[in-house]
Amino acid sequence: MANFFPRWTNWLPLKLAICGFVLICGLTGATWYYVTPKYTKVGYEPIQPVPFPHDIHVSQLGMDCRYCHSFVEVAAHSNLPNTQTCMNCHTQVQKDNPKLEPIRASWKTGKPVEWVQIHRTPDYVFYNHSAHVNRGISCFSCHGEINHMGTVYHAKPHSMAWCLECHRHPENFLRPQEEVFNLDWKPEDVKPNEFIAKYGTPHDVDPGDWAEKKKLTQQEIGQTLKEKWNVLPPTNCQGCHR
Ligand code: HEC
Ligand code: HEC
Ligand code: HEC
Ligand code: HEC
Ligand code: HEC
Repeated sequence: MANFFPRWTNWLPLKLAICGFVLICGLTGATWYYVTPKYTKVGYEPIQPVPFPHDIHVSQLGMDCRYCHSFVEVAAHSNLPNTQTCMNCHTQVQKDNPKLEPIRASWKTGKPVEWVQIHRTPDYVFYNHSAHVNRGISCFSCHGEINHMGTVYHAKPHSMAWCLECHRHPENFLRPQEEVFNLDWKPEDVKPNEFIAKYGTPHDVDPGDWAEKKKLTQQEIGQTLKEKWNVLPPTNCQGCHR
């Protein structure tokens, strides 16, 4: 009897096994790449030369972000403080704390402290801090509760979809300009009368209707500011990929 199956089929099980193996490796790799924190970045918390506590300096001592991140309002890039900024206080305060040794060493040698950068957009993305913080977008919306962090971690995805979520609906995030650096701000803190006197209401709302209210929602506040300031974040590709 002639061989019903051609000779090459002898290798079929092996070929199938290899295909299966390659497929599984591919899927594992893709899951690894897309799902683990390194890719989504959320939770990334590198070990810093000094475990700098934002909670102590901001929430306990009441320091403003701009004391250290002094360019955040005026430049695309938000700088980190230099050693002198720390030593303004730490020549006096906690001057024997071993945690501060790298700062003292840097002060002696003049070599800057090598902080590990946590947030980073790829080079093909255009990003500008001042364009955001001068338009009523708080550090909180993009970095989370920094003022309560013992050490900084990556709190938000910073993916393209995430940027666009706000660019399509900035009213969900806009707040009065004077609250941008107050990371604990809540929409309930706004007094409707004062807010309306300063910013008005959206075109389709009678100010009298809101004056009665005890509280305004984020959407009501955001919509008012969006119209008042004519906020229109780019959603076209060239807006962010220049
Ligand atoms: C006393 C100085 C000081 C103050 C005040 C301060 N920071 Fe920082 N900040 C630092 C230092 C030092 C680092 C670098 C070490 C680190 O990442 O923990 C840093 C890091 C950061 C980072 C992460 C940077 C990166 O690598 O991506 C963010 C975001 C940040 N600060 C936001 C804020 C915000 C928001 C405020 C105000 C609520 C604030 N900081 C107030 C000193 C300060
Ligand atoms: C305005 C003054 C001031 C500046 C500027 C300042 N600090 Fe401090 N820092 C303090 C005070 C006050 C304490 C002590 C707080 C306490 O004991 O509760 C402190 C505590 C610390 C501690 C000890 C925390 C612990 O748990 O032991 C570290 C670390 C530290 N600061 C790092 C820094 C670094 C790094 C910078 C510069 C980026 C800086 N500080 C800038 C005032 C300052
Ligand atoms: C609209 C979102 C957004 C807002 C609002 C925002 N940031 Fe950022 N921040 C980013 C992104 C994105 C990066 C990474 C930028 C890069 O790669 O250069 C970043 C980076 C940083 C860094 C690290 C800079 C470096 O090169 O090490 C610091 C510090 C920082 N932000 C502080 C702040 C402070 C303080 C505020 C509030 C005053 C703030 N940011 C508001 C999105 C934001
Ligand atoms: C929480 C809200 C929010 C998030 C998140 C956000 N943006 Fe924006 N973006 C805005 C607002 C508001 C403006 C100002 C629009 C205006 O001035 O009309 C803006 C403006 C811009 C502009 C135009 C600036 C200029 O100088 O022309 C760019 C580019 C931009 N954003 C990039 C990004 C990128 C990239 C990300 C993500 C890493 C991002 N944004 C995340 C709200 C946001
Ligand atoms: C609001 C800002 C913004 C706009 C508008 C935007 N992008 Fe992006 N894009 C980003 C950011 C931020 C990243 C980097 C994401 C990351 O690092 O995970 C990115 C990444 C990408 C990538 C790399 C692929 C990837 O997933 O890493 C491509 C391709 C891309 N964008 C294409 C586009 C196209 C096409 C458009 C227009 C339809 C567009 N983008 C509009 C912010 C934007």
